[in-house]
Amino acid sequence: MDNLDQIVSEAQSAFAAISDPDALEQVKARFLGKSGQITELLKGLGKLPPEEKKTAGATINRAKEAVEIALNARRDAIRKATLEARLAEEALDVTLPGRAEARGGLHPVTRTLERIESLFHSIGFEVADGPEIETDFHNFTALNTPEDHPARSMHDTFYLQGSDGKVADGVLLRTHTSPIQARYMQAHVARYGQLEKMPEIRIIAPGRVYRVDSDATHSPMFHQVEGLWVGEGVSFADLKGVIADFLRSFFESDDLKVRFRPSFFPFTEPSAEIDVAFMSGPLEGRWLEIAGCGMVHPDVLRIAGIDPEKYTGFAFGFGPDRLTMLRYGVNDLRLFFEGDLRFLRQFV
Ligand code: DAH
Repeated sequence: MDNLDQIVSEAQSAFAAISDPDALEQVKARFLGKSGQITELLKGLGKLPPEEKKTAGATINRAKEAVEIALNARRDAIRKATLEARLAEEALDVTLPGRAEARGGLHPVTRTLERIESLFHSIGFEVADGPEIETDFHNFTALNTPEDHPARSMHDTFYLQGSDGKVADGVLLRTHTSPIQARYMQAHVARYGQLEKMPEIRIIAPGRVYRVDSDATHSPMFHQVEGLWVGEGVSFADLKGVIADFLRSFFESDDLKVRFRPSFFPFTEPSAEIDVAFMSGPLEGRWLEIAGCGMVHPDVLRIAGIDPEKYTGFAFGFGPDRLTMLRYGVNDLRLFFEGDLRFLRQFV
């Protein structure tokens, strides 16, 4: 039975040389398969005389067991090595910095709008809204802007085309947020007009506006924030106080000057442009125009159904795009509307 010991050691070294599980099963067949060496020996037992059969059978079975033990040991070793290799490969290094989720951020102009809203909210202003496709009446007529005013021309205002291809009558893309004044006052009168004393109107109305205009400092779409305060005894002095306080809070600085320069708007009387000058920084000492304002024209109050003998008010319209440029030091308006992530990411 020397032959058997040889088969067993041959099997052991054959298994040991293998590290692939499929190859191992192939080599196993050489010893234990249907016509494997051990199987053939077992088949030969039948030819032996009965007295030899028993001992020979026992010896061959011991050899078979030895081969099976070697096989199982090798199977386990390969499985363990495979698992270890995989664990090493998929190892998680908990000391590495985390992969941050890519989160969106607010557009710088949106930040400005929210900032303006919250500053005015803190002194009792509500946020009001209005449609971007506006009626000719609210955009112009209700704001005391006559039929022949140049702002009404096609060169300045986007009109809308009806399904018949003709300019739709009476509707346009609003050229400013001032129509929200007219709408809000009308709705306010409808609600409280019967009362002996009408509650005050104090609103701030941010939004997109449209004009036929495009260069480095003008975009056909831009933003405005309208403000309106109407009540008993509201004066130009109130307007100046509110605006100066707002600008100091907005720019987080007392180091600035505010100037009211006489101007003209059809819907205010008197009217002014608001200029601001910073006393330090790159724009030091330069006057920058940032808003229009004035006392609401008596005709505008009257058209809305408010008695100008009893109530007065002031209004203002800011350019928040301009405020955003000043606050963050941006020098080209178009950057806000190009959607370039390299620019926008800086504000997240
Ligand atoms: N609507 C004006 C414009 O677009 C800005 C403006 C000026 C608004 C004076 C006002 C105001 O409310 O009182 O140029």
